[in-house]
Amino acid sequence: MDFKECLRGRRSVRKFKDNMVEHELIEKVVEGASYSPSWKNSQIVRYIIVEDRVLLNKLADDCVMDFEHNANIIRNAPAVVLVTYIVGRSGYDKDGNFSTSKGAGWEMFDAGIASQSFSLSAYAEGLGCVILGVFDEDMVSKEANIPEGQKLAAILAIGYPDEEPTMPKRKSVEELVSFR
Ligand SMILES: Cc1cc2nc3c(=O)[nH]c(=O)nc-3n(C[C@H](O)[C@H](O)[C@H](O)COP(=O)(O)O)c2cc1C
Repeated sequence: MDFKECLRGRRSVRKFKDNMVEHELIEKVVEGASYSPSWKNSQIVRYIIVEDRVLLNKLADDCVMDFEHNANIIRNAPAVVLVTYIVGRSGYDKDGNFSTSKGAGWEMFDAGIASQSFSLSAYAEGLGCVILGVFDEDMVSKEANIPEGQKLAAILAIGYPDEEPTMPKRKSVEELVSFR
């Protein structure tokens, strides 16, 4: 797929076919995401794939702060990806102090870059996904047993698309850019 088409054509997909996504395909998508840049190449982002229907329903029912919109997306998805990051590396010096005034902000920055790479990579492989930002971090971490030393950055619902959403309006380049 042409790069520009990949950038422009990716949409947040919230409706999925029932088919499970093959593990080999998910691994291909993760490989794509692994080329993301990261703080000093620290590569702190991890992907926990949840396919277990009982756990998915638990996440939908109890872990999205009663935001029914996201609960329905998770109930309808064959899988979700818990995008996590290892704490205490990105943005930190070796002695454990922050390297910059952004403190631990670079951890979420790295996770954001990785999530976009993951989304583009999924699209290029014929999959759809949506980043979900509304969830109860503590509840998800507990229910999904996120390993000690990792924090949850985002949830991505993933599957074969069952809709072709139109692109929400974008700001013009003139609105976005300024030169000094
Ligand atoms: C950080 C972040 C959080 C988001 N959270 C949600 C969410 O909780 N639920 C949802 O349906 N979409 C969510 N989205 C998807 C956005 O609504 C979507 O990216 C935006 O409307 C642009 O549409 P597009 O992705 O198709 O270009 C989120 C996107 C980002 C980047």
